[in-house]
Amino acid sequence: MENKHLLGIKGMSKEQIEAILDRATYWADRPKQQADILQDRFVANLFFEPSTRTRCSFEVAEKRLGAHVLNFAAESSSTTKGETIYDTIRTLESMGVEAAVIRTSQNGLFDELKDKVSMHLVNAGEGTDEHPTQCLLDLLTIKRQFGKIAGLRIAIIGDLRHSRVLGSHLHALPTLGAELVLAGPPSMMRPAEDLPTGVRVVGIDEAIQSADVVMMLRVQLERHNEALFSSQEEYHQAYGLTLAREKMMKKDAVIMHPAPFNRGVEIDSALVECERSLIFTQVSNGVAVRMAVLEGLMNGGVKTWEPFLKTASF
Ligand code: CP
Repeated sequence: MENKHLLGIKGMSKEQIEAILDRATYWADRPKQQADILQDRFVANLFFEPSTRTRCSFEVAEKRLGAHVLNFAAESSSTTKGETIYDTIRTLESMGVEAAVIRTSQNGLFDELKDKVSMHLVNAGEGTDEHPTQCLLDLLTIKRQFGKIAGLRIAIIGDLRHSRVLGSHLHALPTLGAELVLAGPPSMMRPAEDLPTGVRVVGIDEAIQSADVVMMLRVQLERHNEALFSSQEEYHQAYGLTLAREKMMKKDAVIMHPAPFNRGVEIDSALVECERSLIFTQVSNGVAVRMAVLEGLMNGGVKTWEPFLKTASF
């Protein structure tokens, strides 16, 4: 986290992450509260890849904070005539837009933009690198469920190679003192050099039996250049959360998934809304996290988030 932008979890301190989670907790406890914190301020959502949860929950968060919202339609914008994202941002800046929430397939886009623009940039999913607000909402969900994150074992399972959610958790979970174990097909594994010290790759049954949180990842077919498994049923049996594997889970363990989910592939359809599933709780917590992030960036002058948290009054 820099003062001005939310570009990724990499580089954020434990205190910075916890400060965002504390403020998000405030909003999660007040799911109907409307505020005028960003009244008369303009925020644009620029999604160059499809999204339902992230785009809509940013819009809900922006509106709950009182901002004016521009939903930029990439497919009917001048980017289709070759205008660059930098020129698009400068154009919106010139109109008085103060923050841009951007989803892109391009790894490295935020590094390219961050020192060249004056508006706040928020990473809403960047290539296969990071998805920081998804990571933060996962952390909030875990913290609200267990009352802590440190000391828990989190298993992240599935298409590890293409997951930007994992990209953020690789930094967040070790920073917060959780144990991270990974499982998935060898063809979808992250290179060993990407894994921080202490993060272990284990077999899927071991991951599921021993974890407090079983986080399943979507098979990201749109990012596969070649067939990485022969059939959806074969994948489900080998690497999915089947009904039989759910029975191996610890008594109080929970199921999470960033969604969208492929029912019957990485997760049995009946488990999506089972008692131990927090999948739709994650979606609810996404609004609270995005409110905390936008509020901190646009209303704070935030370095550690603490000065703002201490002076905030609503
Ligand atoms: N989890 C997530 O990023 O979902 P969307 O692609 O629908 O935004």
